[in-house]
Amino acid sequence: MKVIAIVSAKGGVGKTTLTANLATALHRQGVATVLVADLDPQNALGLHFGADPASLAGISRASLEGEGWGSVCVQSLAGVHVLPYGVVNEADRVAFERHLDAHPDWLAQQLHSLDLPQDAVVFIDTPPGPSVYMQQALTAAQVVVVVSLPDAASYAALALMQRLVHAYCTPRPDFSETLYVLNQADGARQLSKDIKRVMQDSLGARLIGVVHEDQAVREALAYDQSVLEYDTHGQAADDLRKCAQVLAQHLGLRLAGGAP
Ligand SMILES: Nc1ncnc2c1ncn2[C@@H]1O[C@H](COP(=O)(O)OP(=O)(O)OP(=O)(O)O)[C@@H](O)[C@H]1O
Ligand SMILES: [Mg+2]
Repeated sequence: MKVIAIVSAKGGVGKTTLTANLATALHRQGVATVLVADLDPQNALGLHFGADPASLAGISRASLEGEGWGSVCVQSLAGVHVLPYGVVNEADRVAFERHLDAHPDWLAQQLHSLDLPQDAVVFIDTPPGPSVYMQQALTAAQVVVVVSLPDAASYAALALMQRLVHAYCTPRPDFSETLYVLNQADGARQLSKDIKRVMQDSLGARLIGVVHEDQAVREALAYDQSVLEYDTHGQAADDLRKCAQVLAQHLGLRLAGGAP
């Protein structure tokens, strides 16, 4: 099992979008077991898979009630296994977060107890910035994917993420590497091109993908579909497929078609 934490210091950069679409792309490219877990009280990840946003069932409530995750895991039409955060009231959210704070290895243990196949891939979607959820995800992950936008504020915020990775991941022997995705790139804007070049120069092969700004990404969500299904031949779908292939290479996964 490979656990990938999708993180960013700043909000609204495309973490949930990338979690859903990279998971779908990897499954379509031949990874049999792909699981996505939503560790964000926004409970938005399920929307990308057609889940009911008002459904109470999810990781938060199941954990508070001492139930296993099997009861709240749904399989999407695309074949990805989805664990929504679920809907909880404020008191329950606070109680859940206290539990996570007191048990830093909670997520790692929950994932371990699922007994997934060795070649399974698990994506963890997180809220932006330091939080008990990000701490859990970083503590369980072998690979961290940092998502950034091509603007100065996002670029400056990369340093915070690097410090958090250093605190929670680097000391662990099972941690592999930190990778980066530049999202909403726009080839018509000079700043976007400049930041892309700076990231390519400074990160090298750790920049695993550049996903372009594409209206189809927003539209796909409105129709409860992945971008790959909604606009198969569009720019973002193409970028996301390529990014998933590079991610698979870093994970050492064998994809349909012979890679790696
Ligand atoms: N490549 C893209 N092109 C166009 N729109 C995009 C792209 N990527 C993401 N978006 C849009 O940007 C918005 C934010 O995306 P998303 O919710 O995935 O970000 P997030 O990082 O998960 O946000 P949060 O920090 O609040 O969890 C959404 O409306 C999404 O549809
Ligand atoms: Mg999100």
